[in-house]
Amino acid sequence: MQDIVIDRSIENLIKEALKQNNATLVAHYYVSSDLQILAEESGGIVSDSLEMARFGQNSDAETIIVAGVKFMGETAKILSPEKRVLVLDDQATCSLDLSCPINEFSEFCDQNPDHIVVVYANTSAEVKARADWVVTSGSALKVVEKLHSEGKKVLWAPDKHLGHYVQSKTGIEMLMWDGACIVHEEFKAEGLKRLMQLHPEAGVLVHPESPKDVIALADVVGSTTQLINAVASRPENMFIVATDNGIFHKMKEIAPNKKFIEAPTMGEGADCESCAHCNWMAMNTLEKCLDTLSTGKNEIRISTQIIEKAQHSIHRLLEFTK
Ligand code: 13P
Ligand code: SF4
Repeated sequence: MQDIVIDRSIENLIKEALKQNNATLVAHYYVSSDLQILAEESGGIVSDSLEMARFGQNSDAETIIVAGVKFMGETAKILSPEKRVLVLDDQATCSLDLSCPINEFSEFCDQNPDHIVVVYANTSAEVKARADWVVTSGSALKVVEKLHSEGKKVLWAPDKHLGHYVQSKTGIEMLMWDGACIVHEEFKAEGLKRLMQLHPEAGVLVHPESPKDVIALADVVGSTTQLINAVASRPENMFIVATDNGIFHKMKEIAPNKKFIEAPTMGEGADCESCAHCNWMAMNTLEKCLDTLSTGKNEIRISTQIIEKAQHSIHRLLEFTK
């Protein structure tokens, strides 16, 4: 008689626990490849923060497991308040979220009551609740263009680089909060120019959280999803990529014969806080995923009042991008 072999790998244990808990795993493109593979194999999704939340909302699962950072878990909870939302590590946050504490931000808004408040998705639930609009990197330009055409004045937070990019494209003057992503801020234009000279045939893909002199060198500026789509649609066989290197997993999957090079940061050995990889995204692991599912720890809790207000500004975006 043949022995029945039971797969006790951590991936399989997680898949079983997801079923037992009627849970779905949603992952951002910046988390490790093993989590991205597991999310898709188990019927979940790998995506940008907005699609992660939209997927959770449309799923039949009672529990959403978020492999990403805190604001992504909060957005998922705001859109699915009746569901249990768990993050893998409750210390995994974001420099943009941290740069924009609600009290100071609220004061800034109060001082400028004639401005429409537009905030990036990378903010806390409280900041979203204070805003008129929530936008993502893929939708910011179109939303601000619309507000501009209606003659509105815009107060923008928290990413100054994305804000300056939107400003340069629309010509609109925006009141700007002084926040930045510590990962994208490290990309350097001088190093990128040298790399482009070495590989003149390469396409240059840049996330708009990067500094403006880096954006100026790009063939494509866009959100994570837009950069991944560019890899598939553009003719180049090689790309220099200025965003978190977790994205290479998806890029290699959709274009296995193309080559990808990390855009330069401060260089090896330099005092670079996050050289092309977000330390908070890196806190997500398979082990923590299993632990979270087994214990139900790290549940996202937001008051009903904040959820209702934040829903208003996120639903505007969902309607607009439908
Ligand atoms: P998008 O996936 O929306 O482009 O955001 C990038 C990001 O910085 C997430 O932390
Ligand atoms: Fe925040 Fe930047 Fe990390 Fe994204 S990559 S979570 S924007 S610090």
